[in-house]
Amino acid sequence: MTWLLTGGAGFIGCHVLRSLRSSGRNVVVFDDLSTGLSDRVPDDVPLVEGSVLDQALLEDTMRKYDVTGVIHLAAKKAVAESVAKPLWYYRENVGGMESVLAAMVSCNVGAIVYSSSAAVYGEPTISPVREDIPLDPISPYGETKLVGEWLTRDVAASNGISWTALRYFNVAGAGDPTLGDPSVANLIPIALRSVREGKNCHVYGSDYDTPDGTCLRDYIHVADLAEAHTAAATLLETEQIGLPINIGTGSGSSVIEVLQSIGRALDGEVAYEVVSRRPGDPPALVAAADQASRVLGWSAQYDLDDMTASAAAAAGLQKI
Ligand code: WQD
Repeated sequence: MTWLLTGGAGFIGCHVLRSLRSSGRNVVVFDDLSTGLSDRVPDDVPLVEGSVLDQALLEDTMRKYDVTGVIHLAAKKAVAESVAKPLWYYRENVGGMESVLAAMVSCNVGAIVYSSSAAVYGEPTISPVREDIPLDPISPYGETKLVGEWLTRDVAASNGISWTALRYFNVAGAGDPTLGDPSVANLIPIALRSVREGKNCHVYGSDYDTPDGTCLRDYIHVADLAEAHTAAATLLETEQIGLPINIGTGSGSSVIEVLQSIGRALDGEVAYEVVSRRPGDPPALVAAADQASRVLGWSAQYDLDDMTASAAAAAGLQKI
């Protein structure tokens, strides 16, 4: 089979690309290079530069390369930006999904792995979260990811497409020092930047109902996440399925535990100060990971120390 990987030049995409290639699959990357980097796509992998809103280009690409499955990662992913620019997020994420699915139907492509997010859960009161709990996203970003799941489910049902939506939890780390996350948008990159600049990292609230009072999240190594896509692709090549799957480790780490882990990676202590809570932060967001293990035969191999050490190495930091 040949897989079309949208967003394959991005931070997560370039890890998925490597995993798919190691499994021996043919891959074509489709990316508008708005945030992706073309030098992360090896020379022998076709790279089509374009927007997922361009259905004609998607169809040309699917036909030219005899694409048989799609892994759709290309999307906007910043929560705060989505609140400021909801129309843009709906256009890019929902419009992009519609365009990808329409191209698939037109070209008879029968399998899709969709990049969804734990943001579809909103602020759940249950932890860990199973895939079948009620969904209540609290940002336009999370809403667009949920609508993307619905679109995929409905179009798949009427066209015999096999699909899964992988709900990513907090993606971190780097599979290689050259493949780090270039954006500084999440806790680990932000903490590493504060270390580099000799500033205190801000901890958003320490009065939550959690063991140390700071928020719990399920951090998942990007290399593990990439393997989950290959496991999903393998399954979709032979099985007709349709369901969302959490991609997390199944255990939570607090903000303080993350900073301590970075301290171990850098042989020192990360300086921090507690500031007020950040609106919209659920106290705990941890995946129930048993469905991934049961359906995909996949489970995380790396732990938090692997994530912080690899992220620090990719950021060029060695010691505090
Ligand atoms: C992690 C924890 C913060 C920064 C977001 C999106 C989610 C997904 C992943 C895209 C929280 C705390 C953070 C800081 C802190 N995005 N924190 N000080 O919000 O769990 O998830 O990214 O798919 O949809 O919502 O990730 O890295 O921002 O925060 O104390 O300077 O770290 O409060 O508890 P989040 P995050």
